[in-house]
Amino acid sequence: MFDTMTMTKAGAAVLGTLLFFLLGSWAADSLYSTEAGGHGDEGHATSGYVIATADDGEAEVEEEEAVPFADLLAAADPAKGEKVWGKCRACHKLEDGANGTGPHLFGVVDRPIGGVDGFNYSDALAGLDGNWGPEELNAWLADPKGYAPGNKMTYAGLKKEEDRANLIAYLQTIGG
Ligand code: HEC
Repeated sequence: MFDTMTMTKAGAAVLGTLLFFLLGSWAADSLYSTEAGGHGDEGHATSGYVIATADDGEAEVEEEEAVPFADLLAAADPAKGEKVWGKCRACHKLEDGANGTGPHLFGVVDRPIGGVDGFNYSDALAGLDGNWGPEELNAWLADPKGYAPGNKMTYAGLKKEEDRANLIAYLQTIGG
């Protein structure tokens, strides 16, 4: 048989849950209106969300700026870069003039883009101006397809910035 105590408890539980939701949504409402009110300006009445988004954006930009590639490179380890080079050696050689599937990479850091005599570059690469400075190499190695769409280096890219910094530090020690 149902005793009154059980009924009362069940009723209390239901009421408690209702109260919880009511309080919760009331709290949420007042939170949002407080935020919107806090930024007063009528022109930006929807502030709560907009401002949160803007803050996020700024935080991301600051994070990227926190470690410029030049600093990563200055702290990079050429010995580790030599290991990363293992991913390139199937197609590239480091001896001056020794072209393979790809152009030789002797002294490649600060070398003109598409500048090796006798290597048959794609139009995509031959059409780029400038030199392979560390920043350019960093961007190229992160995403070769994105950097020069239509180029013929069939390599997906080095995902980790640290790997790229170590590799470029290693390449800096080769010739030039
Ligand atoms: C599957 C072969 C292959 C692999 C692997 C490969 N490359 Fe290449 N690479 C090429 C080819 C082919 C080109 C010429 C692309 C063109 O002309 O479009 C090239 C071009 C380049 C250039 C431009 C050189 C210049 O003279 O302008 C650089 C720098 C380079 N590769 C670096 C690397 C590095 C560093 C790695 C390893 C992380 C790597 N490549 C892995 C085939 C490869």
